[in-house]
Amino acid sequence: MTKETVLVAYGSKRGGTAEIAEWIGASLRADHISVAVKPAREVHSLSGFGAVVLGGALYSGRWHRDSRHFARRFTRQLREHPVWLFASGPLDDSTDAGTDGKAFGARAVHRTADRLGARGTAIFGGRLERTATGFPASAMAKSSAGDFRNRARIEAWAKDIATRLG
Ligand SMILES: Cc1cc2nc3c(=O)[nH]c(=O)nc-3n(C[C@H](O)[C@H](O)[C@H](O)COP(=O)(O)O)c2cc1C
Repeated sequence: MTKETVLVAYGSKRGGTAEIAEWIGASLRADHISVAVKPAREVHSLSGFGAVVLGGALYSGRWHRDSRHFARRFTRQLREHPVWLFASGPLDDSTDAGTDGKAFGARAVHRTADRLGARGTAIFGGRLERTATGFPASAMAKSSAGDFRNRARIEAWAKDIATRLG
């Protein structure tokens, strides 16, 4: 089992992706892995971390800017670490079969994964609360609100990471 801490870093606007990061962290901890879960913009160094899981919400066809910036800032180190990427987006169950489904923006995440030599990439469903404020989220919420984060699938993905770090 890896002795160094695994960093789970995320970019999230409305908290849904932050919670996915916490679920991944809890799942890794259950497999006796030391984990730190942090907003990507608050990470200033990768020293002390043995592996990185980097995630972000998808907005307007792009990965959250904190996740993009993190990948850019730490490109050199990330290429030398075991890295996994995830994104959370579609407000439907189209990713549940393990594909990108209707995720607009997933291709850019895969390109980043290639650049970093990531060991795995997953696209998960997203969440939009009915009470979301701000435009265009509030308008979207009228037709697309819901929680499409499949926790069982997310935990199975984290379990696979734990096995591969073991
Ligand atoms: C304004 C807006 C734009 C969005 N654009 C996309 C998109 O391009 N692709 C996608 O898959 N999901 C898109 N979504 C869905 C979000 O990715 C989803 O709500 C996600 O769970 C948000 O994560 P967060 O709560 O961490 O911010 C969009 C949602 C909103 C409100």
